[in-house]
Amino acid sequence: MSKQLVLGTPLSPTATKVMLLGGGELGKEIIIALQRLGVETIAVDRYANAPGHQVAHRAHVINMADGQALRTLIEQEQPHIIVPEIEAIATEVLVEIEQLELAQVIPTARAAQLTMNREGIRRLAAETLKLPTSSYAFADSLGELQSIIEDKIGYPCIVKPVMSSSGKGQSRIKDASAIQSAWANAASGGRVDQGRVIVEGVVEFDYEITQLIVRAKNSKGDIITHFCEPIGHVQVHGDYVESWQPQIMAPLALERAGNMAKKITDNLGGLGIFGVELFVKNDQVWFSEVSPRPHDTGMVTLCSQVQSEFDLHARAILGLPVDTTLHTPGASAVIYGQMEAQGIAFSGVHEALCVSQSDLRLFGKPEAFARRRMGVALANGSDTDEARIRAKLAASRVKPIKTNS
Ligand SMILES: Nc1ncnc2c1ncn2[C@@H]1O[C@H](COP(=O)(O)OP(=O)(O)O)[C@@H](O)[C@H]1O
Ligand SMILES: [Mg+2]
Repeated sequence: MSKQLVLGTPLSPTATKVMLLGGGELGKEIIIALQRLGVETIAVDRYANAPGHQVAHRAHVINMADGQALRTLIEQEQPHIIVPEIEAIATEVLVEIEQLELAQVIPTARAAQLTMNREGIRRLAAETLKLPTSSYAFADSLGELQSIIEDKIGYPCIVKPVMSSSGKGQSRIKDASAIQSAWANAASGGRVDQGRVIVEGVVEFDYEITQLIVRAKNSKGDIITHFCEPIGHVQVHGDYVESWQPQIMAPLALERAGNMAKKITDNLGGLGIFGVELFVKNDQVWFSEVSPRPHDTGMVTLCSQVQSEFDLHARAILGLPVDTTLHTPGASAVIYGQMEAQGIAFSGVHEALCVSQSDLRLFGKPEAFARRRMGVALANGSDTDEARIRAKLAASRVKPIKTNS
């Protein structure tokens, strides 16, 4: 056996301290998983009372893209492990922290840096690792966007800010008349206005999956790659609305998906879970993108796996063993805010939970927007078709309402 990590007692000098950079619904579940192992948790987000703030030992509000603010907070809290939950972080600070060995960055500072910008990860996947991807090109101005679409990519294509998530700022365009609005949409939807976009040829896939992969230590201290069953999902306007596990795949496509996911995660390195997004048509598989952290479509694992993606991440980053076994086929369906309001309420929860083998997560976000993900319904079934019907039914019964106060 290699030297094993010793877990301490939270809020005491022996505490094992983990700082989450980002405290959304995914961060909240990671924190809960860590707390079950007696870890002291610190949640950081850009606004007060974020979901993760509500369950962590300590909560901080800072702009994580501000390097000075981030460095000061890390120096103050002195976490042993730093877990990025979002992409928009001053990653140069993480590189520095890792170099000085002040804390372990999950999975690595380089992985956080490469994946925060679509250009970094796309060039690594397609040009260095030679994974099949859609056609793509980058543009820094409307004029350049027009010319690369006309000369190189063609129609239909998708324009995305190089820094964005959950489909924000993305446009699918069919002809030249839509280029200008796609450029404007990317400029307003990007998290940090870089004035740079990627344009991708549309892959006409049969279905898309998230391949969750965990890099965790075995008892000898070697890092081993573990595969979860593929997760199928449906995206609307680039944002996930429904996911299920397992997604049945043709054997060759499954093998290719696994190989691609392994290749990219081997390169990124470190410890923890990764969500590798892949497009599939018959036996063909294309790499799309990868998150070096739990994936939103992976919320289904809260009901479908023995250890959810959050349990897996918590264990892996602590150097503990993991088990990726599927428990029962399951599905998740998103509950949107459906309105713009503060402190909304949810009616229909009783009716939702009357659905057989269903469960809910309401994230506790202080403010709702029409397309903001406020919760998720989960359900099991004898197969994913049954689980999907149940999850969608449960989600549809939860009705966000305005309170009068
Ligand atoms: N090149 C493409 N071809 C076909 N569909 C795509 C392409 N790029 C994105 N999509 C669709 O849009 C969704 C979101 O795109 P993605 O690049 O994953 O953005 P985000 O980082 O916001 O999740 C994908 O899951 C897929 O459904
Ligand atoms: Mg995506």
